[in-house]
Amino acid sequence: MQNHYHIDSLEAYNQACQDATNTPEDFWDTIARENFDWIAPWESVLEHDLSIPAVSWFKGAKLNITLNCIDRHLATRGSKTALLFEPNDLGQPAVAISYRELHVRVCKMANVLKSKGIQKGDRVCLYLPMIPELAIAVLACARIGAVHSVVFAGFSAAALATRINDCDCKMVITSDGSYRGAKTIDLKAIVDTALLSCEAVQSVLVVKRIGTEITLYKNRDYWIQPLLDAASGVCQAEVMDAEDPLFILYTSGSTGKPKGMVHTTAGYMVYSAYSFKNVFQYQEKDVYWCTADIGWVTGHSYIVYGPLANGATSLMFEGVPTYPDAGRFWEVVAKHKVTQFYTAPTAIRALAKESLSLVEKHDLSSLKVLGTVGEPINEEAWHWYDDHIGKNKAPIVDTWWQTETGGIMITSLPGITKTIPTYATLPLPGIKLALMDDTGQQITTPQGQGKLCITFPWPSMARTIYGNHQRYKQTYFSAFKNVYFTGDGALRDAEGNYRITGRVDDVIIVSGHNLGTAPIEDAINQHPLIAESAVVGFAHDIKGTALYGYVTLKNTNVTNQDQLRKEINAKIRLEIGAIAKLDKIQFTQGLPKTRSGKIMRRILRKIAGKQTDNLGDISTLLNPEVVKDIKENAL
Ligand code: WT7
Repeated sequence: MQNHYHIDSLEAYNQACQDATNTPEDFWDTIARENFDWIAPWESVLEHDLSIPAVSWFKGAKLNITLNCIDRHLATRGSKTALLFEPNDLGQPAVAISYRELHVRVCKMANVLKSKGIQKGDRVCLYLPMIPELAIAVLACARIGAVHSVVFAGFSAAALATRINDCDCKMVITSDGSYRGAKTIDLKAIVDTALLSCEAVQSVLVVKRIGTEITLYKNRDYWIQPLLDAASGVCQAEVMDAEDPLFILYTSGSTGKPKGMVHTTAGYMVYSAYSFKNVFQYQEKDVYWCTADIGWVTGHSYIVYGPLANGATSLMFEGVPTYPDAGRFWEVVAKHKVTQFYTAPTAIRALAKESLSLVEKHDLSSLKVLGTVGEPINEEAWHWYDDHIGKNKAPIVDTWWQTETGGIMITSLPGITKTIPTYATLPLPGIKLALMDDTGQQITTPQGQGKLCITFPWPSMARTIYGNHQRYKQTYFSAFKNVYFTGDGALRDAEGNYRITGRVDDVIIVSGHNLGTAPIEDAINQHPLIAESAVVGFAHDIKGTALYGYVTLKNTNVTNQDQLRKEINAKIRLEIGAIAKLDKIQFTQGLPKTRSGKIMRRILRKIAGKQTDNLGDISTLLNPEVVKDIKENAL
């Protein structure tokens, strides 16, 4: 079998698709064997039974992902920049960390973790800003076989505690605080609050970042720097099994409890590296920048593992797009001569609203590839990105994937396959897609619209939900027999290009963040004056989708509604984080329910979207009278 690791032409893409379809095991066997370092080979490429579901890739192989992301580059790329850190403040210099330095820093951190009792299989929670220590801590865990669980440092203490407890983290690594534009956030104080309810945590390591005063609890909390200074810069990589867990990453679902998606080692490594190479067409001297936070899967796969496995230079940005002004992204692109730039549609929409002079004063001629991820990109934003950032010379890759898929599933390949505004376009070789109709049948015509599924295992698929395999099966493998259901709807054109139409379940994507309605409603319902609530999405200029809450009070005589709205959002901020705040809150007499008591969200979505002319069939409602009230008082 030909090695399809790097697809560099349309012919190569077509050949790879053909080979991956006809002989998937040979396809991945060759890619894995010829492009990575293994300690011991595998006995079988793929074993799977999607009725359980049980999937194993490269069974029996031994490896360590950090040997592939760091050590193997030392001989040829030791002085090459691995991580290029651009701080929040313009006054602070950028920091280039070479592969050689990264090696030492990861080993030191790994030795510190060991000295605090962390062993293979232990879970370590990382609650850190976008500073080099975050990437280094991720790799240090992988070095010793500890399972990292990165929690985005915008989550509240309550949300952090839930995630720490769900997988029994033994250690938390955090910082005194973080910079966010002109503001600072006291992260350590948030961790302290969270840990009041986390019994398994034995130690907390604290990176000094903002210099604020913090409390160090005796025998639990330690400044990390003195420990790093004293640690050895050599740490032998733990020998990992192909299917040993590499990390847990939480994503929201249709109940209040977040789902800890478990990713394993070999398949994830192979797929994140392979997809990175092809989607961004990375070349040796390129400077690649993904603006995501490592707290999301995009940062795991396309800031840390995928780029480093390819020996790339990966830029890490601590700040926000609008500080000190809304030209910051373009300033950073010009400063570091960024060649590939990967961001979210919400950021593009926000920056497109600003004066073009903020773009035009920076030299963006280094850019070769632009990427988007996280939500559907609207046509207007796509063209603005193409015209003003790429100057119509840098192809846009609209990459569709999920926390659960571990890597990009649908995308165009820049300069190789066609780009079509608003279409993610084609699956990567080896990814077998299907659209299902409402009767549960696969749509076999070329054109169609339905629920997006993946019918065959791929190497980086999540293997389970931590501690709840039944929920994994129920959520992803029960809507349609023996296929993975994504939760998204899509349409397909006559050429086989896919356009994602959005979620078909109770998950709402706000500014590219995946939010379940259930946890938000749970937070609202905790307010003593509130009887029940329903949250739906509505179209928003910048966020793509924003949140609209319908709230029924226990006693309708509340006079200060604005005060109550503030309290509701404060509660959400406390339970989840500011990303889940509601843009609109309407107080209602009741919520439309089916006879079985389920809230009919379809109606609420239409009203929130101001499409009240045709609400569809409401005859099956238990309480049709509430609809009139909701319609009349819509915001
Ligand atoms: C959901 C997954 C994958 C990393 C970031 C989000 C939506 C993602 C696209 C895209 C349309 C997209 C989907 C998906 N989504 N990328 N290019 N076009 N929608 O990861 O938080 O797990 O969210 O994001 O609805 O299911 P996530």
